[in-house]
Amino acid sequence: MPHQPRIEGLITRMTLEEKIGQLGAFADALRPFAFEVNPETFARDAEQVREQIRAGRVGALFNGVGAAEGREAQRIAVEESRLGIPLLLGADVIHGMRTVFPIPLGEAASFEPDLAERTARATAKEATAAGIHWTFAPMVDVARDQRWGRVAETSGEDVHLSCEFAAARVRGFQGGDLTAADSLLATPKHFAAYGAVSAGLDYNFVDLAPQTLRDVHLPPFKAAIDAGALTLMSSFNDINGVPASANRELLTDLLRGEWKFEGFVVSDYTSDLELIAHGYASDEADAAKKALTAGLDMSLQSGIYAGHVAALVERGEIPMAVVDEAVRRVLAVKAAIGLFDDPYRSLDAAREADPSHIAAHDALARDCARRSIVLLKNEDDVLPLKKSGQRIALIGPFGSDTAHLGGCWNIFGDAARMIDVETGLRSALDDAASLVVVPGCAIEEPVEGGLEAAVAAAREADVVVLALGEPHDYSGEAQSRTQIVLPAAQQALAEAVATTGTPVVVLLRNGRALALEGAVRDAQAILVTWFLGTQTGPAVADVLFGDYNPSARLPVSFPQDSGQQPYFYNHPATGRPNVPGTPRSFQARWREVAHAALYPFGHGLSYTRFDYGAPQLGTDKLGWNGTLTVRTRITNAGPRDGEDVAQLYLRDRTANRVRPVRELKRFAKVALAVGESREVEFALTRADFEFHGVDNRPVAEPGLFDLWVAPSSAVGDAVTFELLAS
Ligand code: BGC
Repeated sequence: MPHQPRIEGLITRMTLEEKIGQLGAFADALRPFAFEVNPETFARDAEQVREQIRAGRVGALFNGVGAAEGREAQRIAVEESRLGIPLLLGADVIHGMRTVFPIPLGEAASFEPDLAERTARATAKEATAAGIHWTFAPMVDVARDQRWGRVAETSGEDVHLSCEFAAARVRGFQGGDLTAADSLLATPKHFAAYGAVSAGLDYNFVDLAPQTLRDVHLPPFKAAIDAGALTLMSSFNDINGVPASANRELLTDLLRGEWKFEGFVVSDYTSDLELIAHGYASDEADAAKKALTAGLDMSLQSGIYAGHVAALVERGEIPMAVVDEAVRRVLAVKAAIGLFDDPYRSLDAAREADPSHIAAHDALARDCARRSIVLLKNEDDVLPLKKSGQRIALIGPFGSDTAHLGGCWNIFGDAARMIDVETGLRSALDDAASLVVVPGCAIEEPVEGGLEAAVAAAREADVVVLALGEPHDYSGEAQSRTQIVLPAAQQALAEAVATTGTPVVVLLRNGRALALEGAVRDAQAILVTWFLGTQTGPAVADVLFGDYNPSARLPVSFPQDSGQQPYFYNHPATGRPNVPGTPRSFQARWREVAHAALYPFGHGLSYTRFDYGAPQLGTDKLGWNGTLTVRTRITNAGPRDGEDVAQLYLRDRTANRVRPVRELKRFAKVALAVGESREVEFALTRADFEFHGVDNRPVAEPGLFDLWVAPSSAVGDAVTFELLAS
C-alpha cells in the first residue's frame, strides 16, 4: 500500500478523539438533503456539523448533494481542522442520480450485467458531478420472499444472477481508476442475509442454516469485493441470534480472516445503536463496544462511537489497537480514492452546472428501461400494437401518472425529465387521436364514475392498455406486504374492463413479484414494467409498438398466490415432490395451488420464437479437474429479429445435503435475426458444482448431475453427466 507511511504517521499524531472522529458518519446538514429517506434521529444543524468538522470529529457526511457546498465542507475539514483529514461524502445513489434508471430488480430482468455496468457508470458521473464520492450501493441481498419491500432494490432470487449484477455495478460505479473525479466508491450492502428476514418482514429476525448463508447470501458480497469494492454496509438484522452489526464471525473472522477484505465496514443507519433494542447490548456504551470490537469500523448517524468509545478505551474495555485498526481502514479507503492527494476531487461546481453530461444519458435510460420490460404472456399475438388504424384506450391510474415513475430510491432524480406512459405512447403513434386516456380509479381508491368511463372507453376501443400496479412506496424499506396483490380498486377496474370483451394488455408497475388475480391474470397480454425511471414512456411505447422486441426475463418468480411465499425456483428438493398432473394426495402442494410459480424465474416472451436444440456435452464423464463444455443450438424460428436469454441450470442428483431442484449457473443473451441459428457455448468446472456440506465446508461430490439449457427455470429436457472422482 503506497499510502501506508502517511496513514501510520497520521495515526501516531491523532488524539483519541480525532481517531474516533474518523469512525463517524453523519447526515449532511450543510447541503440540501434528502431527509425523508431515514428516520429523523439525531438531527444536527449546519452550525453544529461545521463545528464538529473543525474539531476533527467527523469522518464522513451522507445524503447531501451539491458540489459547491461539498467543497466548502471539505475546505473546513482540510483547512480548519488540526490534521486536515479530508471528509468522505456519501449518499444513497442507487439506480441513477438526476437520470433515473430502472429499479435494480427491473434492470436485473435484462439479464445483461454489462448494461448495469453502463448505467452505474452513468450514475457515477452524475453523482460525482454533484459532489458525492461514495454511494451506498449496490444492494446485493438475495431476495427469496416477495413480501419483503426491499426486493425492489435487489437483483432478485437467484445467487448467480445476483453475483453477476453485484460485480457489474461495482465496476460501473467505481470505473477503472478509483482516484478519477468520476469514480464513485461502491458499498455493497447489507452485510449480511438481510434478504432472509423471516416472513418477509423488514428488520425481522433471520434464522438461517449456516450453509444457506454461505451458499446463497454471501456469494454476491464476495463477487462485489472481488470486483474491487472497498466498503461494505452492515445489515439491521440478526443472524441466528447475533446482530449483523456486531457479528464478529462475519465482520472479522470471515470478512478479514477468510476473505482478506482490506476496506472498512459502515453500519446501517443507527444499526449499532439498535443492538440495545435487539436485547444484545445493555446500553449505548455496551452497543459501541460490541459493534466496534466485532469489526464494525464506522458508525452511521447514531453517534454512539463519538459518545462512548473514548471512555471505553480509557477504561481499558476497548484496546487502542482496535480503534487504530478501524481508523487505518477508513484512512486507507480515503487514500485509495485520492482524497489525500486532491481533497477537492468530485467537488467541481462548473462540472455540476454543465447539464450536457446528464442529457447524454437519456438514450441509455431508454434502452435500459425497454430491456427491463418482461412480456409474461401474449395470447393471439395481441402485441405489438399498431401505430395507426387501431383505437387504443389507455386505462388505469398509472396511464398519465408522473409521481410513481422513479421507484423507491429516486431521491435526487430530475422530476421534470420523467416521461409518463401517455406521453410516450402519444409521441410514438402516427395518429395521436387514436389514443383515449381514462384513469378509471385512483391508485388505492375508486373514483366516482370511474368504472363507467373506463367501460365506455374500452367498448369504443380495439384494444385496452391497462396501466395498473403498486405505488412506489409499496416497496423499499419498511414496506413489507402480507398480500402481494394489486390494490382492490384497481382489481375492480380490471374486472369491469374485462366485461367488455375488448382485448386487454396489462402494463404492470411493480417493485416485487405479484400474485396476479382474476381479470389481470386472464388478460390477453401482460407486461411487467417495474419502475422504469426517467424514460418510462418512450420505453413502454418501444415495446408496445414493437420498435423493441422484449428480451427481459423474470429475476423473481411470480407465484400463483400470496400464501406461497417464500417461493423461489431453486428451493431444496422435498421427499414428496409435487408431480404435475397427478392426484394431489400426499404431495408437497397446497390445497389451492401446486408447488409451482404462475410465471417462474427466467420466464419471458418475445415477439418472435426461439427453438432450442438438445444440449451437447463435451463429455458425459467429467474428470475431477476437467472442463465440461456445453453447446446448444438456438434458432429464431419466428417472424422478427430478437434476443433470447439462454439459461444453464444444474441439479446435483445426490449429495451430503439436500440440494436445490435447479440452480442457474450460466446465462447468455443472444441476438438472432429471423431464421438465424447459433450455437451458444458454456464451460463448467468443478467449482461450479461446489456447495457447503454438512460440515459447512465447500465441497463438490462425484456423481450424477442433471443439466438444462432452457428459456426458463421451469422448462427444458435434462441431459445427465457424471463428475468422476479423479
Ligand atoms: C437503509 C440503507 C441506506 C441507509 C442510509 C438505511 O435505512 O437500510 O440501505 O443506505 O439507510 O440512508
